[in-house]
Amino acid sequence: MFATFTEVLEQAASEGRAAGAFTCYDSTQAAGVLDAAEDAGVGVILLVSPGSFRLRRGPDLLAALRTLADRSAAPACVQLDHVSDLDAVRAAFAAGAGAVMVDGSHLPWEHNVGLTRAAVELGRATGGQVESELGGIAGDEDVAEAIAAGALTDPEEAARFTERTGAACLAVSIGNVHGHYRDEPALDFERLAAVRAATPIALSLHGASGLPAEQVRRALAEGVVKVNVNTELRGRYLAAVGAGLDGWRAGSDVQSLATSVRQATAEAVAATLALLAVQMKRA
Ligand code: 13P
Repeated sequence: MFATFTEVLEQAASEGRAAGAFTCYDSTQAAGVLDAAEDAGVGVILLVSPGSFRLRRGPDLLAALRTLADRSAAPACVQLDHVSDLDAVRAAFAAGAGAVMVDGSHLPWEHNVGLTRAAVELGRATGGQVESELGGIAGDEDVAEAIAAGALTDPEEAARFTERTGAACLAVSIGNVHGHYRDEPALDFERLAAVRAATPIALSLHGASGLPAEQVRRALAEGVVKVNVNTELRGRYLAAVGAGLDGWRAGSDVQSLATSVRQATAEAVAATLALLAVQMKRA
C-alpha cells in the first residue's frame, strides 16, 4: 500500500532500523524491490532517477511505480531523486510522488534555501515531502565512475537550513559518493554525529553501493534513517541479463530475462534490507 515518505522513515526509525530507497528504471526492477520488501515485512522507497524522469515517458514511469506501490502488500513510497528545477518537482507530485529530492547543493546558499522552500510549498497540495542536500555528494546518479568525495555537510548550516526550509529529510555528504568509490570509503562519523546533534531532521545516506557493511551499520547507529542504493542494482541487472542472454536468444524469451532481473533485484534488496535492520548501539 502507498505510504507517505515520513511514514516509511518514521516506521523504520521506531523499529531501530533505516528505510531502504532503491532506484528503479522499470517496473521489473520495482517488482523485485517490492517482492523483497513484502518478504521482509518492511516499508520501502522506490526512487526514480533524474535521467529517467527527463525521458519522454519519465513522469509515466513514476506513475507506474506509484501504481505498483499502491498495490503492494508492503508500505511503499515513490520519490523523484535529485532534481533542481521546480517544473520537475511539480510534475513528480502530479504523477504520484510521495517525495522529491531537491538538490540545490551546487547553488549559492540562499538559492538552495529558496528552491527547497518552493518545493516544500508545491508538495503541500498533494501531501508530498521534500528531501534536500547540503555539501555536495559527488558522482553521477545514472552512470557510475570512480570518484572522490565532494564538499562535506556543515553541521551548523544543516541546523539553519532545516529551520528555514521545512524539508523532511537531509542528505548528508560525509565522504559518500554516487557510483564507485575511487578511494577506500571512509565516512566521517564525527561530522555525522555533529549534524545529528545540530538538527532533529531525518538524515539520509546516499551512495550506499560499495560501502562496507560496517560503515553502513555505524551510519545507522549515528542516526541515519534512509539509505539510497542504485549502482549495485544496476550491476545486478546487467549481470542477470548477461548471464542468461545467450540461452534466451533462441526462443526470443524476454519473459525469462525479466524474471531473472526481478529475482536478482529482489536478492540484492533483501540483503540490503537485512543490513539496514541490524541494530547497533550508538558509538
Ligand atoms: P549509488 O548509485 O552509489 O548506490 O547511490 C545511489 C543514490 O544515492 C541515489 O540517490
